[in-house]
Amino acid sequence: MSSPKKIRKAVFPVAGLGTRFLPATKSVPKEMLTVVDKPVIQYVVDEAREAGIEHLIFVTGRNKAVIEDYFDAQVELYHTLEQRGKLQDLEHLQNIQPQPGTTSFTRQQEPLGLGHAVWCARELVGDEPFALLLPDMVMQSKRGCLAEMVELYEQTQNNIIAVQECHPEEAHKYGIVGRGEDVAHGFKINQMVEKPAKGTAPSNLYINGRYILQPEIFKLLQNQERGAGGEIQLTDAMLKLAELQEFYGFRYEGRTFDCGSKEGFIEANVAFALSRADIRPNIESNLNMLIKEIKLSS
Ligand code: G1P
Repeated sequence: MSSPKKIRKAVFPVAGLGTRFLPATKSVPKEMLTVVDKPVIQYVVDEAREAGIEHLIFVTGRNKAVIEDYFDAQVELYHTLEQRGKLQDLEHLQNIQPQPGTTSFTRQQEPLGLGHAVWCARELVGDEPFALLLPDMVMQSKRGCLAEMVELYEQTQNNIIAVQECHPEEAHKYGIVGRGEDVAHGFKINQMVEKPAKGTAPSNLYINGRYILQPEIFKLLQNQERGAGGEIQLTDAMLKLAELQEFYGFRYEGRTFDCGSKEGFIEANVAFALSRADIRPNIESNLNMLIKEIKLSS
């Protein structure tokens, strides 16, 4: 394994088609749909930055150019905001804008699966451990999931996967890990399976979309055959890497919203709206009224 290094780079696979959100995703990438007033991708990038990530690598696809524009400076807009005295808005935009040279974009030319998307980032990551964040999964907690993983990484090195419990009935939708011996703030992973057939999952701990991986994964991905769903699966390559290196599980205690599904996306909107002091009072009373009304009329 390569020598211990700081986690400086994060990969965001954003090439997915978002068919579950058609027709919106005909022209708007699903990562740009807003949860309250921020695009989904901004939540995930914020989480990465909180964890000390310095360089953001986006694996995009066709019709995703707007993501690149979003992370660029919008000089005319900044100028207009300044002229209108909207200095708070201006400052906020400037704060979230990545520094020059700290974002990279590459394209996954064919939708061959998550493993293939990650492999597309190999030249940009180079020979160092990196974080991987799946932007569909938006998390809510005091401390970011990745920041906690980086802390665990500082003690364990190797590879880390964040997991959470799912209902056994849901296990076939995810990557599932098996739980080995406990270590401080985590456990050794002794099994991994992508989308296990019903009743065969080694546990109810599902992979929630946050990883810290060693660069040796890229060689394995290069030769990885297609797995579940006919796609090149990251989990299958991680299983091979686990023969050579340790994998640790980090149990995340916060909330995870699968914003790739309609239900998860709407729940995320409600949860983040209710966590905002400026809009919570109205949203809360209006939602309660709405639920009562709908119950009465159905
Ligand atoms: C991917 C991963 C899976 C993980 C899931 C989390 O699956 O392959 O291991 O549990 O993300 O969302 P996908 O959602 O792309 O089918």
